[in-house]
Amino acid sequence: MKALITGVQGFVGKYLADHLLSHGIEVWGTSREDSPLLCLKNGNVKIIKNDLNSEEDILGLLQKVKPDYIFHLAGQSNVKKSWEDKEGTFYANVNKTIFLLDACVRYQQEYPNVRLLTVGSSEEYGRVEPHELPIKETTPLRPMSPYGASKAAVSMLIQQYHKAHGLNVIHARPFNHIGPGQADGFVTTDFAKQVVLIEKELISSTINVGDLSSERDFTDVNDIVAAYLLMIQKGQLGEIYNVCSGESISINKVLNYFLSFSQKEIQVNVDESKFRPIEFKKYYGSSEKLKMQLNWTKLHAIEDSLYEIYLYLKEQPNTI
Ligand code: GDD
Repeated sequence: MKALITGVQGFVGKYLADHLLSHGIEVWGTSREDSPLLCLKNGNVKIIKNDLNSEEDILGLLQKVKPDYIFHLAGQSNVKKSWEDKEGTFYANVNKTIFLLDACVRYQQEYPNVRLLTVGSSEEYGRVEPHELPIKETTPLRPMSPYGASKAAVSMLIQQYHKAHGLNVIHARPFNHIGPGQADGFVTTDFAKQVVLIEKELISSTINVGDLSSERDFTDVNDIVAAYLLMIQKGQLGEIYNVCSGESISINKVLNYFLSFSQKEIQVNVDESKFRPIEFKKYYGSSEKLKMQLNWTKLHAIEDSLYEIYLYLKEQPNTI
C-alpha cells in the first residue's frame, strides 16, 4: 500500500508518517519547502514540493505517486492566528481542499479504490450547550472562530463530493491533540517551554499564561494518528468521526502538571493578550462511533503525554 500525506512536515504529519511506515505502508508527503524531513523515527519518506495551489498540480502529483490512501493534513491549524488572518486561513483550509477534492474526483476515475481522509476539528462544533456534552458527530455545527468555520466548510464539502461524485472520502474531527514537537502557540508547548526556559535560567521565574478557566479534551498524537489509519482503512465513506478522549481537563490543571514536573519555584502571570475573542468553557467529545465501528482505543494517559512533552523540550539544546 502507498500513502500520500499532505503537510507531512507538520506536527501530526511526522507522527502519521512513522505510524504508517511501522505498518508497512510506503509513505510519500507534500511539503511547501524543499528542505529534507526531520524528526522521523523510521525515515524513508519521499517528499515532493507541492503547495496544493491548483487542481492540475495536485492531479499531476497523484498520477505520479499513485497513492491508495491520501491523508489531507496540510492547513492552517492555529485558532488564535485564524482571527488575525481570516483570508489566509480560509485559503489554506478551504480553497486548497477544494483543489484537492476536484483532483481526487478525477484521480478516482483512474484509481477507483483510492481513499481520502480530510482532517477537520472539534472547533467545527463551536458553541455547545452544556446539555449537548459529550459532543457527538450529530451535534449541530456552530463554529465560533474563523478556523472552526473553515473546517466546518470542509466537512460539508466532503459530504457533497461523496454524494455528488461518489468520492471515497472520510472526515476526522479531532479534539485537542498533544505530543512532543508541537509548534509554539498551542497550550502544552507554550507552558512546557516556559517551564524549561525558567529551569535553564534563560528567562525570569514567571510563566505567562492565557485563560486558565476553560476545559479541553486532550488526546496523545500517537492515538490520533492510529485513529486516522483505522478510518482510512475501514471507515464508512462519506462519514465523519470524532477523535477524542471523552474527558475534559481544565487548562489550569494542565499548567499544574507542568509546574509539578519542575523543582523550581515558578510564579504564574495571567496575560490577557493571550485571550481569544471567544472562548468555550467546557468542551469534550464522544468517540463512541470510532470505538464501536473501528475498534479504536486510546492507549496514552494525559499525564504521560504532558511529561513526554516536558522531557522532550528539556532535552533540546536550544529551547527557544
Ligand atoms: N495556545 C495557548 N497558549 N492556549 C492557552 C494559553 C497559552 O499560553 N493559556 C491558556 N490557553 C487556553 C486557550 O485559551 C484554550 O482555551 C486552550 O488553552 C487550548 O488552546 P490551544 O492549545 O491553542 O488549542 P485550541 O483548543 O485553541 O485548538 C487546538 O485544538 C483544536 C481541536 O479542538 C488546535 O490544535 C486546533 O488545530 C485543533 O483543531
